[in-house]
Amino acid sequence: MKSRQRNRAGPPGRWPGPGGRPVDPARAGGQTQIMSVPTLQWLDPPRGPAVALLDQTRLPAEEGVVTCENVPELVDAIHRLVIRGAPILGVAGAFGVALAACRGDDVAAAARLLSEARPTAVNLAWGTRRALAAYQAALGRAPEPDHQNPDPQRLAAGAALDEARAIAAEDAAASVAMARHGLGLIPEGARVLTHCNTGSLVSAGGGTAFAVILAAHRAGRLTRLYVDETRPLLQGARLTAYEAQRAGIDYAVLPDSAAAGLLASGAVDVVLTGADRIAADGSVANKVGTYNLAVLAHYHSVPLVVVAPVSTIDFGTATGAEIVVEHRAAWEVTTLGGQLLAPAGSASYNPAFDVTPASLVSALITERGITQPVTTGNLRLLSAPPPRRKSAPADVSVEL
Ligand code: MRU
Repeated sequence: MKSRQRNRAGPPGRWPGPGGRPVDPARAGGQTQIMSVPTLQWLDPPRGPAVALLDQTRLPAEEGVVTCENVPELVDAIHRLVIRGAPILGVAGAFGVALAACRGDDVAAAARLLSEARPTAVNLAWGTRRALAAYQAALGRAPEPDHQNPDPQRLAAGAALDEARAIAAEDAAASVAMARHGLGLIPEGARVLTHCNTGSLVSAGGGTAFAVILAAHRAGRLTRLYVDETRPLLQGARLTAYEAQRAGIDYAVLPDSAAAGLLASGAVDVVLTGADRIAADGSVANKVGTYNLAVLAHYHSVPLVVVAPVSTIDFGTATGAEIVVEHRAAWEVTTLGGQLLAPAGSASYNPAFDVTPASLVSALITERGITQPVTTGNLRLLSAPPPRRKSAPADVSVEL
């Protein structure tokens, strides 16, 4: 199935989206821990160059694949949330640059399109920028074309692809490290509440908050996972429940509005979420509803812990107030599965994210360690390049 823009202007005819093909077993692989289809896969010729995506709009009903053969198709897939979640958007942006380079397209223009596809998840622009820089540096270094090296453009495309692969590998390694650090914060018999979706579907590895949850499950520490359904697009009910079920986790899906009562009943030991952008002051932009949970958790003295790679920290955004929050189409709120939930023509208020102040975040788990409290100074310490060592471990533990 090729990715084609179909429904940017309106809802899919049914939920999940229309069409779809059975999964191509040749594309099923071991990239992610618990999916039978990789979240994102680069395809070399003759099947590519292309980026193949597990279509998250169809989950959990169907594991369809969307193959993007050019950047506008990939941008469309990002808009429609075929692929979503901060870390994998960074990987997707980088592979998008490689795709443009391999096709001989205008790479800088493609990078601009990709960076702007979604404004809040900072990883998208970050990954795109990294691959573009690798491409441009390789082009600058390339010798004049001769018979040994007839095509500098091809060399540069290879550099962009290498960079995209490096970003994916770093993301997978970061998941492992975040899970390891995070496990230390999870008590025996823990009952965890989570919001949105943060597992293999958002990462080239095991994800962010869900990687910690999975580690706790595997360590026998998790008694129960509570999954906020995450209105309006149900990333919790559709995607996190899907990941939890496949991992054999004991989980329960709840309406977002039930979280207050659940927390009041004392049934939650820790709230774990991911992040789409962390401003320099420690404010956390994440899926809309995270701020509700943070206020509730604070009121009920339950820790709210954010799990995110260092690439999600954005020192270019000084405060939470400066974070650009994406607002999405009305139909996401006013319809479900193609059925009207509100009178036709209703206006909507549909921010995809909200911003939680650092004061409500008990701890931040990154691949480099845990920071507690979340302050600008501690974020700067975490983000400083790790000291060079001969064995160069990717994660330097800086528990603060
Ligand atoms: O709109 P989405 O589905 O892309 O939002 C994703 C989230 O809010 C996740 O919680 C976030 O990216 C952090 S974990 C990767």
